Amino acid sequence: MGRNHMPKNDIKKISKKVALITGAASGIGECTAKLFAEHGAKVVIADIQDELGRAVCEAIGSSKSIYVHCDVTNEEDVKNAVDTTVATYGKLDIMFCNAGISDPNKPGILMTEKTDFDQVLSVNVTGVFLCMKHATRVMVPKQAGSILSMASLASNIGGVASHAYCCAKHAVVGLTKNLAVELGQYGIRVNCLSPYAMVTPLATSFVGLEGELLENYINERANLKGVTLKTDDVAQAALFLVSDEAKYISGQNLFIDGGFGITNPSLNMFKYPKTL
Ligand SMILES: NC(=O)c1ccc[n+]([C@@H]2O[C@H](COP(=O)([O-])OP(=O)(O)OC[C@H]3O[C@@H](n4cnc5c(N)ncnc54)[C@H](O)[C@@H]3O)[C@@H](O)[C@H]2O)c1
Repeated sequence: MGRNHMPKNDIKKISKKVALITGAASGIGECTAKLFAEHGAKVVIADIQDELGRAVCEAIGSSKSIYVHCDVTNEEDVKNAVDTTVATYGKLDIMFCNAGISDPNKPGILMTEKTDFDQVLSVNVTGVFLCMKHATRVMVPKQAGSILSMASLASNIGGVASHAYCCAKHAVVGLTKNLAVELGQYGIRVNCLSPYAMVTPLATSFVGLEGELLENYINERANLKGVTLKTDDVAQAALFLVSDEAKYISGQNLFIDGGFGITNPSLNMFKYPKTL
């Protein structure tokens, strides 16, 4: 997950901000934690994978980050993560509700177990709700802050994920919009990210392909050609939305999907001859 794209003398976009990121031990969360720290933020890594989470902290540096064990489905854990953030760094400016899971890839609803369905909703919806709730608790008295949630392409279209995952990501968008309405009066912005697919442990285990094989699979089906979606692309979008560059953007679901979600593939339009 090497990232080193910051031009020299680049402006740090979230200098002196304090960010709490759930699911930051791996994948998109890990990459975002590193990018936020490079842009001057103190970062709290919240996850259930303690060893990986501590390793991310070590990579960022102990002066810029701490790790907190936090199962987002457990309100006490979420409350503790927020309170530890405030106790350590004095405030919470940015909450990124990123932790998420998928249930196993099954061919249909008849094969879907209720326990799997419940588990996905518990992490991907209730977990986001709890993180939003406790971020709100400390942001409202300061009348400032930015909350970001993680949805997916599956927040808008069917047929790209399991029923539970699709349903959960639609719900995350609903929560995001509703909270953006509530918190606008306090100057707090609430937005959402919806990426297409990229290589992370979540996607690897859902599709059943790893590394380049998974990227090839994703790229073949993508609308935008000549580029591969990486965790860094999502981290950059997160950085934009939580920074002052996006200071009038709230209640939005930003798609990082290269136009996949607005494409109707069945008519096969705009296919130029190879010779053009
Ligand atoms: N990878 C993709 O293609 C893709 C596409 C769209 C959206 N997303 C979303 O991005 C987010 C991050 O996923 P990722 O792809 O980086 O996967 P990942 O598996 O690399 O990371 C998910 C992290 O969430 C953590 N987590 C799981 N359950 C948790 C819980 N109960 N409490 C706290 N942490 C928990 C995991 O330990 C892991 O570190 C998820 O919400 C996912 O739905 C991923």
